[in-house]
Amino acid sequence: MFILVLRFANVCKNANFAAAFQILINMFKIIRKTYLTPSVCLMEVEAPRIAMAAKPGQFLIIRANERGERIPLTICDYDAVKGTVTIVTQIVGASSRIICNMGTGESFSDMAGPLGRPSDFTLLPDGALKGKRYLFIGGGVGTAPIFPQVKYLSGQGALCDVIIGARNSSLLIFTEEMKSVADNVFVCTDDGSAGEKGVVTKVAERLLDGGKHYDHAVSIGPMIMMKFCSLSLKKYNIPLTVSLNSIMVDGTGMCGACRVTVGGKTRFACSEGPEFNGYEVNYDEAMRRQKLYRNQEIEADERCRSKLEGKQ
Ligand SMILES: Cc1cc2nc3c(=O)[nH]c(=O)nc-3n(C[C@H](O)[C@H](O)[C@H](O)COP(=O)(O)OP(=O)(O)OC[C@H]3O[C@@H](n4cnc5c(N)ncnc54)[C@H](O)[C@@H]3O)c2cc1C
Ligand code: FES
Repeated sequence: MFILVLRFANVCKNANFAAAFQILINMFKIIRKTYLTPSVCLMEVEAPRIAMAAKPGQFLIIRANERGERIPLTICDYDAVKGTVTIVTQIVGASSRIICNMGTGESFSDMAGPLGRPSDFTLLPDGALKGKRYLFIGGGVGTAPIFPQVKYLSGQGALCDVIIGARNSSLLIFTEEMKSVADNVFVCTDDGSAGEKGVVTKVAERLLDGGKHYDHAVSIGPMIMMKFCSLSLKKYNIPLTVSLNSIMVDGTGMCGACRVTVGGKTRFACSEGPEFNGYEVNYDEAMRRQKLYRNQEIEADERCRSKLEGKQ
């Protein structure tokens, strides 16, 4: 909002009210939209200031319209030159359905970010990542947030292997994009319809038992997958980072909605995370908290569906 007011004030100063109005209506315009699966859409959005400041690991809070709910989405790519950020949204309820229902040329009413701490490796000095070996494990829509991290690390001379898992082949995303930045990409599906049959931890264990060595592992996906990654990788003594998608409201450390227990202490995922040491997270509590508003969410989605269907 602050940025919007600043831009508006700047243009008004030059007495060009028509241009100022244009900025207001064109803020956060969707310039590209494509479906990666029937329930996951990718959007490239105009957001020059966010694109300039964004780092891997950070997220945005978006409201589709003035009456919309604030929902957090990871910055899956950013281009400071073009002034755009890319988001990937999975339809799981009312707000994500409204977002995916928007089209090219439409604009989000607001987008706050970049929020959260950037991934720790972005803070290392130049040259420190050269030759380091990373293992990334992405599950479902969690694969997209891995992309900017792998892109950044590869650019710094690190070597990245990526495991992408999904329930079946129609739910796999970002496999080609990942191949363009990673050293090796391993695909697996629960039903064997693409890649290796089985879950991501099975592939990770096969690689590690086969003699692969990694300095660090990163897992992003459903909470249950991150829990099992932590149980599995602990045996191999590899540092593990996970990104927590707890319920968020303000995204700035003020409301407490996103609190999680990490290392026995209460932490706010929005301001102190979303990335934490994967061996210290209380996953069971985090999963319970994610489901706190399930009944209200189902009702809201039913209302949203009938409204959208009524429009068509
Ligand atoms: C840091 C962070 C990054 C995320 N990145 C992505 C992403 O890149 N792509 C993506 O598809 N999803 C991402 N999510 C999850 C996304 O925010 C939720 O799917 C979305 O808020 C669901 O809203 P809804 O109204 O459509 O669904 P609802 O029906 O309201 O909820 C469905 C489920 O979504 C989760 N959820 C609901 N409201 C929130 C909220 N305010 N904050 C967090 N989770 C919520 C809950 O687990 C809930 O059970 C991220 C979450 C966090 C915290
Ligand atoms: S979302 Fe409010 S404190 Fe984190």
